[in-house]
Amino acid sequence: MLFSIRRMSEEDIEEILAIEQASYRTPWSRRAFESEIRAPHARPLVLGQPDAPLVLGYICSWRTLDECHILNVAIHPSFRRLGFASHLIDHLLDISRKEGILRHLLEVRVSNEAAISLYKKYGFKVCGVRKRYYADTGEDALIMQRSDL
Ligand SMILES: CC(C)(COP(=O)(O)OP(=O)(O)OC[C@H]1O[C@@H](n2cnc3c(N)ncnc32)[C@H](O)[C@@H]1OP(=O)(O)O)[C@@H](O)C(=O)NCCC(=O)NCCS
Repeated sequence: MLFSIRRMSEEDIEEILAIEQASYRTPWSRRAFESEIRAPHARPLVLGQPDAPLVLGYICSWRTLDECHILNVAIHPSFRRLGFASHLIDHLLDISRKEGILRHLLEVRVSNEAAISLYKKYGFKVCGVRKRYYADTGEDALIMQRSDL
């Protein structure tokens, strides 16, 4: 399937919210995505079909000094296991490489095997645990880091 990756815009939010609600117990709000679109340190990207408004997935990250913190990655449930999350991460790592960002960080639920496996494939390693990080279930978060130093 042909796809393209571009910066998130206000027109994408409706479709993003549908994916978000299908993907998480505590989905981000419209306001959260609006803020990603506006914040200068944020880099929200969407993966879609070229020349079509359809959103297949997205990744949100923040750049802080020489680090990149990945905050959200989700793919439409009907389009999973097709390599789209991998394409988004590849794209982000490519931008980071060009900007000299050598460290990537994220938090993930300990039960989220799909995401943990995805991040491990990209060289992320567990470097800590945030106890009871997720307020809805009290689940711990793994802190994962990829260092290219
Ligand atoms: C996690 C998620 C983003 C993966 O998206 P995806 O497009 O299906 O992932 P890809 O097809 O690029 O898969 C890449 C690798 O991730 C891992 N993976 C993805 N889905 C998996 C699953 N259901 N079970 C186990 N491993 C999985 C595999 O290692 C896979 O490599 P492989 O296909 O060679 O085995 C997707 O399942 C999703 O949107 N989940 C809900 C939101 C979420 O939990 N986001 C992460 C928050 S931290």
